[in-house]
Amino acid sequence: ADPALARLNAPALFTRSFPARAFASHKGTFGSLAVVGGDTGMCGAPILAARAALHAGAGKVHVAFIGAGAPPYDPPYPELMLHPAGTLPLGTMNALAIGCGMGRGKHAAEVLANAATLEVPMLVDADALNLLAHDTALADLLVKRGAARHACVLTPHPLEAARLLGSDATAVQRDRLAAARALAQRFGCVVVLKGAGTVIAAADGRLAVNPTGNAALAAGGTGDVLGGIVGALLAQRLPAYEAALAGVYLHGLAADTLTHSGAGPAGLTAGELATAVRAALNRL
Ligand code: APR
Ligand code: MG
Repeated sequence: ADPALARLNAPALFTRSFPARAFASHKGTFGSLAVVGGDTGMCGAPILAARAALHAGAGKVHVAFIGAGAPPYDPPYPELMLHPAGTLPLGTMNALAIGCGMGRGKHAAEVLANAATLEVPMLVDADALNLLAHDTALADLLVKRGAARHACVLTPHPLEAARLLGSDATAVQRDRLAAARALAQRFGCVVVLKGAGTVIAAADGRLAVNPTGNAALAAGGTGDVLGGIVGALLAQRLPAYEAALAGVYLHGLAADTLTHSGAGPAGLTAGELATAVRAALNRL
């Protein structure tokens, strides 16, 4: 075992990170999150993330769509506020989750570059990671943000991590701890390397492997749900490493609970997972 590897003490983490809600708390106490993504034809990804964020306790959740043809509202979740990207001032948010279904177009790259200049805590996933891998100016912006210690969490799956490292998925999987650590150091941020045995690495050397989750999660959209959960925890002012650790743990726990009740391992949907996050969080 890697000597840096910490054993995840979930009860302690959750007691520390989620004190009981104060009687006089209000929605501002739990922060506002903007999920940024959804190119034309890929609106579902940010909507899944946003729904998960509501169930993970964020005070207010917005979606900023990159593409045209986005719906005006989400009928089963009218709490969500949907906007075209560019009309929502991202600097007024308590956290951003950027990349789900975002595409790699020019508008997406511009929105990402603008977000990277903000001091707002930020989660970077999916196509935002792919844009980052192919654009050194964008990567420099993120490195600068990391050096200024603005909270940032990257959530690559092995192929996305490989693109960022200029390597391949087989090499990433051969030493997952090393890959996560290398990315965390390069960008000065927290890295969540997804897949069975998700690794969480911080630039200061903190390192953990998440014990929850199962193969029911091998289904489209579950990564978007994770992005929404961690985004919601950042909006609730958890520091980046704690938000990543707690978010990954909750995501896996929700999947494990659903699986035990017969909703998995085959056929678990990302939408069901988004809903189940609430019970997992409230029980802890
Ligand atoms: N055991 C435990 N966890 C798993 C397992 C497993 N066997 N398989 C998958 N997971 C978890 C991962 O750890 C991660 O949290 O499920 C989630 C899958 O996330 P992604 O790989 O990002 O998948 P997805 O949600 O479909 O991604 C949506 O984003 O990354 C892009 O190309 C991707 O277009 C796709 C979109
Ligand atoms: Mg993904």
